Amino acid sequence: MALLTVVEDEAALAAHAAQRFAAIVGEAVRLRRRALVALTGGTTPRRMYRMLGQDPHRVPWRSVHVYWGDERCVPPDHDDSNYGMAREALLAHVPIPETQVHRMRGERPPDQAAADYERELPGTFDLMLLGLGDDAHLASIFPGSPVLDETEHRVAAPWVPHLAAYRLTLTPPALLDARKILVIVAGAHKAPAVRAALNGPDATGRWPAQILRRAPDRVEWIVDRAAAGELTWPHA
Ligand code: 6PG
Repeated sequence: MALLTVVEDEAALAAHAAQRFAAIVGEAVRLRRRALVALTGGTTPRRMYRMLGQDPHRVPWRSVHVYWGDERCVPPDHDDSNYGMAREALLAHVPIPETQVHRMRGERPPDQAAADYERELPGTFDLMLLGLGDDAHLASIFPGSPVLDETEHRVAAPWVPHLAAYRLTLTPPALLDARKILVIVAGAHKAPAVRAALNGPDATGRWPAQILRRAPDRVEWIVDRAAAGELTWPHA
């Protein structure tokens, strides 16, 4: 069963997620002398990133390599860039060497960017940080996405019809190749997705976050009270 922590609100979510992030990264550095971390985009992590950015010595950043779970096909200085958001809120404020920041090249042709990132990806991550969409998408794997069936490649560049855009995303084999997978979710509009991921009948094509059921012992959910509002126990 995945570990589930329900916290009061978005502020408590950011504080708890920052604490878990620092603990998991610190432990990886102690055990393996470095930590391989994948960051998530979206709005939910911004507060947590800011918190970590304001306390630059809480995490041993010189020993951390950061990657991303997904990216929008835009240049790094674009408002929609997941890299750009993480840089502004966190990475610009901590002592991480530039050579250890491994962004997806959203400005390149999508297929090329995916192939390039596949070459750059490490093996097992120490921490995969993920958000959850209100349709239960994970990284940029949306309901009905062919990426759900990907077994060979670790990075894909799917066309996402409802966004009329390409996205870059890790595939299930890469997303699940992590010692710890931390999913952070806030808000009542996410409650049906949280319920589907944790309580719902198997329907991965409809609710992509159900792929996390393949790694129950490594997944930790941090959910605020509103997003947990439709959960029943026990959960997956
Ligand atoms: C992205 C993501 C995506 C995100 C969810 C939740 O690039 O948008 O990485 O998977 O985590 O869409 O986003 P919010 O935190 O904005 O609700």
